[in-house]
Amino acid sequence: LLLSFSFTLICSRILLNQTPQNLQASLGEQAAITCGFKASSFGSVQWYRQLSNSRPEHIITCVSDGTEYKDNIIFSLSRSDQVSNLTILNSGIQHSALYFCAVQAHCAHHTVW
Ligand SMILES: *[C@@H]1O[C@H](CO)[C@@H](O)[C@H](O)[C@H]1NC(C)=O
Repeated sequence: LLLSFSFTLICSRILLNQTPQNLQASLGEQAAITCGFKASSFGSVQWYRQLSNSRPEHIITCVSDGTEYKDNIIFSLSRSDQVSNLTILNSGIQHSALYFCAVQAHCAHHTVW
């Protein structure tokens, strides 16, 4: 089972770093991805998933501190630490995908990937 995802992007005052870049988890294992960023101000964090041969799909929008549960995945956000985590508790074949986060910055009218 291979879960992989990207990377580091910069938009004027936003720096986004998703780790690890590649993650392999055995069936039933827990797998976690951390999306850390630095933004002087931001609105929300978005998580997307792209299954092979498919378009990226939006999974969730995180706005407030705390955790949310969707599709057997836990998403957390700490606005002060500027970190959002995605945690798959029970990895299965269906989780094999490219995952990525995006931070909606308050940065010259665009959503930053
Ligand atoms: C995200 O994961 C890191 C590494 O496990 C942990 O130190 C941090 O507290 C987590 N933050 C949130 C908001 O879940």
